[in-house]
Amino acid sequence: MTIYNLGSINIDHVYRLPHLPGPGETLAALDYRTGLGGKGANQSAAAARAGARVVHLGAVGPDGGWTLDRLRGWGVEVDHVARVEAATGHAIINVDAAGENSIVIHHGANHGFAFDAVDRALAGAAPGDLLLLQNETAHQARAAMLAAGRGLRVMYSAAPFEVAAVQAVLPHVTLLALNAVEAAQLSAALGCAPEAVPVPQLLITRGAAGADWIEPARGLHLHVASPKVAAVDTTGAGDTFAGYLAAGLDAGDPPEAALRRAAAAAALKVTRHGTADAIPARAEVEAFLAGAGA
Ligand code: RIB
Repeated sequence: MTIYNLGSINIDHVYRLPHLPGPGETLAALDYRTGLGGKGANQSAAAARAGARVVHLGAVGPDGGWTLDRLRGWGVEVDHVARVEAATGHAIINVDAAGENSIVIHHGANHGFAFDAVDRALAGAAPGDLLLLQNETAHQARAAMLAAGRGLRVMYSAAPFEVAAVQAVLPHVTLLALNAVEAAQLSAALGCAPEAVPVPQLLITRGAAGADWIEPARGLHLHVASPKVAAVDTTGAGDTFAGYLAAGLDAGDPPEAALRRAAAAAALKVTRHGTADAIPARAEVEAFLAGAGA
């Protein structure tokens, strides 16, 4: 099957710092790099590196040609990515000595394209294909409704969290992916326990504490542990998890197996600096799992 990913493409500016800066503080970076990022591009890279066929939908500006080359290099299909006048989206990412980060994004082209491009791309989709969404582009709710109506499964990472955006997409979602903070925010907004958010399948990722999969119709509540690693940069770990999970489910793997591989891929990612470029290939993940005795 095919994964269609309506997702952001960012140019990441990454600063390695002794600690995250406080209000009014000026701090000299220990290191500075640029690279491909964006929750959407990261998830496309992860799903493609896991072995899925991935069609990316979104937009870049005149400065974004190299980002598409990079995605293409991993096998992501980018023919439906719109080329617009606005600059490609970007992110300022601060990473501290423990690998934690804080991120500021500027949407740029990610919010500057017409829905027609999404509509045209999804016209080629078939029932059983998967639409991946995050919260960094335009048109999520409309795309989700269209895709669900055409029999696609809709997997939505509600990040960055924004309650109105989440509520607009929620009725069309098959699988909702939240981290623990987002789960608490949504639970407060809906007035229900995080585990009771009304979706067919719910994933809550908890960083080093693992992840939970909840599927009420099958009475399933699975917990997968995170392999223990020395983290240097957690940026993009959630995206790596989501992309690997999407690829596993798209290939027909049972949730247990898809979750275990996704957790291993995310664990490997946090041992490396960078975002899309640091996402491991499937063979590395399998070798890691074999070494861990899984
Ligand atoms: O999830 C990590 C990503 O968030 C970064 O690549 C950055 O671009 C922001 O979108």
